[in-house]
Amino acid sequence: MQTLSLTTPDDFHLHVRDHEALPYTVAATARCFARALIMPNLMPPVTRLEHALAYRERILSACPSGAAFTPLMSLYLTDHTPVEEIDRAVDSGQIHALKLYPSGATTHSDAGVTHLDRVMPVLERMAIRQLPLLIHGEVTDPDVDIFDREAVFIDKVLAPLRQRLPELPIVLEHITTRQAVEFIREQTGRVAATLTAHHLQFDRNAMLVGGVRPHYYCLPVLKRKEHRLALLQAATSGDPRFFLGTDSAPHAQSAKESACGCAGSYTAPTALERYAQIFDEQGALARLEGFASHFGADFYRLPRSTTQVTLVRSPWTVPASLPYPGGAIIPLGAGSTLTWKLAHD
Ligand code: NCD
Ligand code: ZN
Repeated sequence: MQTLSLTTPDDFHLHVRDHEALPYTVAATARCFARALIMPNLMPPVTRLEHALAYRERILSACPSGAAFTPLMSLYLTDHTPVEEIDRAVDSGQIHALKLYPSGATTHSDAGVTHLDRVMPVLERMAIRQLPLLIHGEVTDPDVDIFDREAVFIDKVLAPLRQRLPELPIVLEHITTRQAVEFIREQTGRVAATLTAHHLQFDRNAMLVGGVRPHYYCLPVLKRKEHRLALLQAATSGDPRFFLGTDSAPHAQSAKESACGCAGSYTAPTALERYAQIFDEQGALARLEGFASHFGADFYRLPRSTTQVTLVRSPWTVPASLPYPGGAIIPLGAGSTLTWKLAHD
């Protein structure tokens, strides 16, 4: 197959940052995605409806003219989120989820939840209103090895939460382990997981063999190959509980290439092309559209997109660097070759 047309996909996990970064980050996604679920981990975090609505306007203002792109907003759950905020959020029609960051788990998560007991009334209201909870599924206990943090979270936090509140819609975000795949498969009801392109394409060797490669450092951290193979199987299986979320997480070059580089890989400029390559290599191109364009919209009870994008098999080289506030940004895989390209680029 030399060309591939599919319903314009949606990215159900995206960081676009704010202000002067927006023209760059929004354009990188709007070039090929119809909608994206925008993560609320700004500084300060997007905790209230009004913050999210103002942020949405800033994103729309930064959108390239002519691009039909819709940001879908989320709120950042804290120990202090009032129960009433759930009703305000749902009634606005503009908030599609709340994001749970265990405090200290990742970039800009200091305001996150310290213990689930503190947010149970909010979660109970979300279950009643069927507002999805998006979970960064890693424990932050310093005694737990960073490579085990997702699996331990599933056992210690997520499984008990499911027991306690089975009606709460949940998306386990950017899953990285076989245990996460198995957990999702065992569930009944409104539970799903997003999969990034980079966790499907790379394992931890990409980050650590031959030198430390900071652009591959993201959270949850890349795992062993056996886990990646489980993720690939889930993504290409046609199971609607696994759908696309890039977790494209831009940080300026200087913040990544540092003695203490921050977590996050900037994949938006290459993400759809990467997913196409991954599905192609698995002989599963026919299943890309469900994963990228149907299953996420169905989970969020949104209409599927009605437009199409076309990819062509035409090798191209990922730019070495891209413009970004504060200097430059390095897209993941800078200088490498990808096999699929957007037809209209
Ligand atoms: C994200 C970021 O930079 O905002 N970083 C990352 O490594 N994925 C936060 C997150 O989603 O964990
Ligand atoms: Zn993220």
